[in-house]
Amino acid sequence: MAMVKVSPSVLTADFLTLSDSIKKLEDAGVDMLHLDVMDGIFVPNISFGNPVIKSIKAHTSLPLDVHLMIDRPHRYIEEFAKYADLLGFHYEAGSDNAELLKKIRELGCKSCITIKPATAAEEIFSLLPLCDMVLVMSVEPGFGGQKFMPQALDKIAAIKAECERQGLKIDIEVDGGINAETAPLAINAGANVLVAGNFLFSADDMGAKVKEIKSL
Ligand code: DX5
Ligand code: ZN
Repeated sequence: MAMVKVSPSVLTADFLTLSDSIKKLEDAGVDMLHLDVMDGIFVPNISFGNPVIKSIKAHTSLPLDVHLMIDRPHRYIEEFAKYADLLGFHYEAGSDNAELLKKIRELGCKSCITIKPATAAEEIFSLLPLCDMVLVMSVEPGFGGQKFMPQALDKIAAIKAECERQGLKIDIEVDGGINAETAPLAINAGANVLVAGNFLFSADDMGAKVKEIKSL
């Protein structure tokens, strides 16, 4: 079975003790950190920006998986590429998607395109050769702690099948409402990178929860 990677979202963490949480996540063997950047325009919430990401980068050797939920992301891509290892933005956010994916790779990051629940998988098929990862949202972007939308499963399966048809090896990440019940569904559909926020940060023993989903 393909190894599943876990990318914890720190959105619901206590930011004053974030370095402790990151240390616990490192010890638990997570594969990267998922950082949700929200601008209050593309999504109805504001989170954090590059100064926070810069500090996190200085504290950990885990790869940083930056999920931009910002309007017209091309305006800020060079800034975020300084600290991101994997840099993703939304298909729906109003940039030239192909250009932006190419630019992210030129800047030395892995590229990722992200789709909201209402966007059909087929819309990104022609962009797949420019992607190192695809992120399928399984909640409406903007907030942690929402319920998993099972409609994401067919989209994951369709993207996986299309990657195979095009002969591409691309990571498929799923984000929103992942827990011990929904993670196996996403994996069976073809996802190999799981974002998890609330499931980990609401647990008494975050390390045990990481191991639980990594062993699926
Ligand atoms: C939502 C974010 C997610 C979110 C995941 O817009 O992109 O990364 O924080 O949190 P949970 O796992 O709690 O749904
Ligand atoms: Zn996210």
